[in-house]
Amino acid sequence: MFKIAVLVSGGGSNLQSIIDTISTSKVGYEISCVIADRECYGIERAKKNNIETKIFDRKILKKDISKKIDEYLGNRVNLVVLAGFLSILDEEFINKRRRRIINIHPSLLPKFGGPGMFGMRIHRAVMEAKEFESGCTVHYVDAGIDTGEIIEQKKVKIEVDDTAETLQKKILVEEHKLLPKAIRKLMKIN
Ligand code: GAR
Repeated sequence: MFKIAVLVSGGGSNLQSIIDTISTSKVGYEISCVIADRECYGIERAKKNNIETKIFDRKILKKDISKKIDEYLGNRVNLVVLAGFLSILDEEFINKRRRRIINIHPSLLPKFGGPGMFGMRIHRAVMEAKEFESGCTVHYVDAGIDTGEIIEQKKVKIEVDDTAETLQKKILVEEHKLLPKAIRKLMKIN
């Protein structure tokens, strides 16, 4: 069985999309554990589904967080999925798992990525730039921020009456389809 670890920092709706996909179709992969860098609803979602959870508090661990997650994971998973995980993993962690860490980002990378670009900030920046479209991207994680090779991308049209809030909701619907699709793709080639 192809095993994944899902890393979260917030609501965990993307985690939920993976849980739902696993429970409704024979995907051939399973979630071994859910890791968070703070108390968050994502951890509650995992617990409700009897998935092993672990919190590594970023405020306490600071730069040691990557090392602690690395020790905890060892070689037990085939893929690490960053699903709204906001801590930055260090180069040692990333280099050890080349092409085995992916991230979902709510914009059409390389646009609206990089340091400080997370959550609502991205959608506000997209609206301020008067873009006609946005979307979401699943990409490999490399040593940069949001710079890794793109695996899957989905465009979302921006309508005249859209706000940053409505755009976020529309993109999240697409994220929930794109992330399970990308995991399945990687499972097949690994
Ligand atoms: C998602 O929109 C995800 O793409 C974004 O955080 C949200 C997490 O939502 N990630 C980033 O902005 C990373 N730069 P969720 O906790 O409900 O899955």
